[in-house]
Amino acid sequence: MRILAIETSCDETAIAIVDFRNRNCVDILSHIVSSQVKLHAEYGGVVPNLANREHQKNLVPILLHALRESRINPRLHQGQESRKRENKKSFDSLSLLLDSILAREPVLLRQFKKHLTPLSPPNIDAIAVTYGPGLAPARWVGVNFARALAVLWDKPLIPVNHMAGHLFSALLQESREKDSQFLIPNSQFSMLALLVSGGHTELVLVKKPWRFQIIGETRDDAVGEAFDKVARMLGLPYPGGPEISRLAATGDPQKYPLPSPMINTKNYDFSFSGLKTATWHLARNLRGLASLHEAKPRRELTLRQKADIAASFEKAAVDVLVKKTVRAAKEYKVRTVLLGGGVAANVVLRAALARALKREWPRSTFQVPSSDLCGDNALMIAAAAYMTGKKKVPTDVGTDANARLG
Ligand code: KG4
Ligand code: ZN
Repeated sequence: MRILAIETSCDETAIAIVDFRNRNCVDILSHIVSSQVKLHAEYGGVVPNLANREHQKNLVPILLHALRESRINPRLHQGQESRKRENKKSFDSLSLLLDSILAREPVLLRQFKKHLTPLSPPNIDAIAVTYGPGLAPARWVGVNFARALAVLWDKPLIPVNHMAGHLFSALLQESREKDSQFLIPNSQFSMLALLVSGGHTELVLVKKPWRFQIIGETRDDAVGEAFDKVARMLGLPYPGGPEISRLAATGDPQKYPLPSPMINTKNYDFSFSGLKTATWHLARNLRGLASLHEAKPRRELTLRQKADIAASFEKAAVDVLVKKTVRAAKEYKVRTVLLGGGVAANVVLRAALARALKREWPRSTFQVPSSDLCGDNALMIAAAAYMTGKKKVPTDVGTDANARLG
């Protein structure tokens, strides 16, 4: 089965074209992630309307590149003009349909009509797209683009939950034989997935394929969001996670004891806003700001202080993630533990979770994506679509800001 997958739920425009030989092996024909991070960094975070504009501009060129790279480049029809003459009525109704599907994406619509409508359908079996969760102006572009392609090429459209994508990214193992191949080992159930990203922090139990049950989640900030906000406090650029991680590597995690909220509660929920606030107060105190009304710091933080704050914050966040994940793994006697999402790239978290599982729940296998598959990408969307997808008619697919697994 050959899938074209599209991901635009945040600030990466991503397209992948992959061949599933079977449930255990996938060949990557094209896998492109175009990051808008530099643009958003100027504003210190993702600006939804800017993301919308960039997705509109980028999707058609990236798709054309992906089609060329995958060598399933569809042939040009004899030309739009002759096509128009051949079947004027169906061309007109297709054009009207595209106008209505992409009515809110005028830049994309123009490029779509110019570059894609003249192409014959490529050799793919289905189109997969992230329908949520994510930023509304961002995910609608991807969904409407996918709907338009599904109509143009008459292909089934598979809506995919973004968090399911992160979960499946942990199941993809790089093949030793071929660079462009990933293996998907037979899954051992039950599974437990810790999904940590900029918008989510959740523990997902998968007792059998593919029934997802969220057994715990954050009650306030996502852990990635906390990394981004603490980075901002320390004057580090967006996205803050990798910056904190780099700085923390040179700091002392024991220097400032910061709280790991909810670490001892019996449930599997998380909370990171208290940790974020405690880090904020710590940084203010070190700057010599005693009262909340004082605005002008008496001194700047030294690089050493910043590194120690970063390391202490990272430790407090990782401790609670690891402790709750291991406790859940033991309680549910899971055989596989997965880690996924942007924060899964964090080396301290990866190592700490691996160590704790080995020590306390050695019966489980621990699987993490390679670092470059932790962030948003379309390969994970293709994998989730293939493993869990039900084919739906294109007009059924909308988007959902609060899409949940389960
Ligand atoms: O999954 P993702 O790419 O996008 C969302 O779905 O949100 O996750 C992005 C988040 C950001 O908050 C980013 O700061 C964080 O992942 N992140 C990290 C690291 N790399 C990315 N957080 C901690 N350590 C990292 N190395
Ligand atoms: Zn994500």
